[in-house]
Amino acid sequence: MPEFIIAQINNKIVGCACLDLGDVVELRSIAVLPSYRNKGVGSKLVGAILKRALDLTDIVYLRTTSPIFFEKKGFKKLQNSEKKGIWKDCMQCDKYDICRQTMMKITLM
Ligand SMILES: CC(C)(COP(=O)(O)OP(=O)(O)OC[C@H]1O[C@@H](n2cnc3c(N)ncnc32)[C@H](O)[C@@H]1OP(=O)(O)O)[C@@H](O)C(=O)NCCC(=O)NCCS
Repeated sequence: MPEFIIAQINNKIVGCACLDLGDVVELRSIAVLPSYRNKGVGSKLVGAILKRALDLTDIVYLRTTSPIFFEKKGFKKLQNSEKKGIWKDCMQCDKYDICRQTMMKITLM
């Protein structure tokens, strides 16, 4: 079951993020409006999602095309081969071997 949060500035929605509570707990669908990027909104969304996740799990997973952003937040890269045991939906994907996404996880304290 996914839980979404939004970021608002002056009553305008400028970003969103999702905590997906599936087979694994996963941060998904994080995006900030282009004109509001690099102002800390994405970092606050990640912080809020991880705070919520602390109530539910020790590990949050992520598939992303922006790994450098998430490395700065403490996420670590996984090997492509590790995704088999984590994401069942990847197993059905015809781009399994040529996936552009980086698999990552963060262990919560
Ligand atoms: C990734 C994203 C959510 C970051 O949001 P943001 O509000 O710009 O992030 P913040 O302002 O909190 O952080 C900015 C920092 O992240 C870095 N950063 C932002 N986007 C980045 C990206 N795509 N790749 C690498 N670094 C990125 C900035 O260079 C900056 O670094 P600094 O603090 O060292 O100067 C936003 O760029 C976005 O919506 N991108 C398009 C959607 C996307 O790629 N989502 C992730 C896929 S899972």
